[in-house]
Amino acid sequence: MMEDKVRQIREEIEGQIASIETSAALYEFRKKFLDNKEGQIAQLMKAMKDLTKEERPVFGKIVNELKTWATEQFDLYDAQIKAKELALKNKAEEIDVTMPGVMHTPGALHPDTLIINELIDIFSGMGFEIFEGNEIENDYYNFTALNTPKDHPARDMQDTFYVSEDFLLRTQTSAGQIHVMENAKPPIKILSPGKVFRSDDDATHSPMFSQMEGLVVDKNISVCDLQGMLDIFSQRIFGEGVKTRLRPSYFPFTEPSVEVDVSCFACGGAGCKLCKGTGWIEVLGAGMVNRHVLENCGIDPDVYSGFAFGMGVERIAMLKYGINNIKALFESDTRFADQFKN
Ligand code: PHE
Repeated sequence: MMEDKVRQIREEIEGQIASIETSAALYEFRKKFLDNKEGQIAQLMKAMKDLTKEERPVFGKIVNELKTWATEQFDLYDAQIKAKELALKNKAEEIDVTMPGVMHTPGALHPDTLIINELIDIFSGMGFEIFEGNEIENDYYNFTALNTPKDHPARDMQDTFYVSEDFLLRTQTSAGQIHVMENAKPPIKILSPGKVFRSDDDATHSPMFSQMEGLVVDKNISVCDLQGMLDIFSQRIFGEGVKTRLRPSYFPFTEPSVEVDVSCFACGGAGCKLCKGTGWIEVLGAGMVNRHVLENCGIDPDVYSGFAFGMGVERIAMLKYGINNIKALFESDTRFADQFKN
């Protein structure tokens, strides 16, 4: 009877152990036989007390052998299953250390920003302070106070984005001149970078672009001061040998007004593609502050005089870096900015 039980246990273990797939299931199966109290083998041991004195040692040996055999079986399978489980776990967590990593390189400053920073550097070295005006202005600051009344033909020079009847997106950083002169008494020396807006769109014009405005007001300011400052600016931004030339022009808020050309830094003035064979490149507008503008801001034009200038930041960037389409500056392609990294 007890021999039958021993055989049955052996058969059950042999028959099922190979189909067990997880170490947790194997542990449960093992407990069924080898648990110290409840296990079937422990039960067999307990049952031995009902045997005769002679039978006991014989049977004890058989049960012990069964226990040793079962323990070996379970240990063996346990080791195999654990090895398989570990292999699966390792496979799931596998990483390919030869794969190229994701590189994070620092971005580059936009060419506009590079030029703005360079200009701020040059002009702050000459004592200019930064003034940031408003992008939304009213008609008065953008036009009227700048000697450009409602019926003035100069208003046609710039097609304007109106936000309402009175408010507009400033067409020029010159609007900031008025704010500065209304709030400060001479001497005034400001540099004003900012975005401006005009209904204009082609290879060299964009509806939004950046300007850099300069304004100097003090006693005895003359065109010579303007020209001297422009020489220093041109040489610092375009190179040592660059010369400047003033051509008469017209802006309502300056009198006299000039366009400023620099000698071509690509060909040295001999004539090339960049300067369209003329040897000169136009870079900015400037002039002596019109006395009406000073008066509009409560500054006595018989005591004070001044000059102002305004340049297109994108134009300077395009010239300096050889960019031929302004759109490249507004496409937000980081590879474009990367080319100007130093
Ligand atoms: N505001 C002018 C423009 O946008 C430039 C300028 C500024 C001219 C200051 C003279 C003086 O074209």
